[in-house]
Amino acid sequence: MSNARGKVYLIGAGPGDPELLTLKAVRMLARADVVLVDDLVHRDTLRHASAGARVIAVGKRGGCKSTPQAFIEKLMVRLARRGAVVARLKGGDPFMFGRGGEELAVLQAAGIETEVVPGITAGLGAPAALGIPVTHRDVARGVTFLTGHARDGSDPDWRALRAAGTTLVIYMGMARLQTLIASMLAGGFSAGTPACAIENGTLPTQREVLTTLAALPQAVAAAGLGSPAILVIGEVVRYARSSAASTVERAA
Ligand SMILES: C[S@@+](CC[C@H](N)C(=O)[O-])C[C@H]1O[C@@H](n2cnc3c(N)ncnc32)[C@H](O)[C@@H]1O
Repeated sequence: MSNARGKVYLIGAGPGDPELLTLKAVRMLARADVVLVDDLVHRDTLRHASAGARVIAVGKRGGCKSTPQAFIEKLMVRLARRGAVVARLKGGDPFMFGRGGEELAVLQAAGIETEVVPGITAGLGAPAALGIPVTHRDVARGVTFLTGHARDGSDPDWRALRAAGTTLVIYMGMARLQTLIASMLAGGFSAGTPACAIENGTLPTQREVLTTLAALPQAVAAAGLGSPAILVIGEVVRYARSSAASTVERAA
């Protein structure tokens, strides 16, 4: 190990395209003795790690075989206590629906020196790559980031969100897309609200459907889109320039 005192870097690897890694992330990766990498992180990112670094995959995608969170946290503490510099490489930004906050709390409680390296979150990177300005001032008052998979299973207050007039960017919404859209419609969102789903945003494999809120589940199913995908709901979707792989059924 390179250091008498270990340290953990919680690093955001960006939304997918490995070129969207920050310069700081590259520098910290190069210092690491051990890299713990999530499965949404592009593997080309690892070429910035030193040749001698140990790489451990600790992915946990919904419904798939996964590494328990408690195991990952204990492993980071153990490695840092042995003097290792650990790069915990997470998709997007470590604090955006990524359990980075939980990991930071565990590391701090254990007295481990920790630094957070922010990354471009998928909810900004994927729409931006498609030309969607999520806070375009002509049509949006701001942007709200939501999960489609709340820990307690509850729905947000759709009426309040509709009244707020912000663009909605929804992570992890694909598994229960139909229910999600039905509850938004029941909560007062109009059927014709422009909506899109972006799969594998910023990657060469990116695909998207551009449609209306009511038509989104059907359009996603017809195009065979799956996870990982970001949903964007709001007038800003009209600004999207579709890629070659997109299915377009634009809002009227
Ligand atoms: C556990 S969350 C992690 C989010 C991550 N911390 C971030 O800031 O982007 C995983 C979800 O992020 C979204 N996601 C991650 N990468 C994506 C990509 N390349 N394209 C579209 N959505 C993506 C999907 O909604 C996926 O289900």
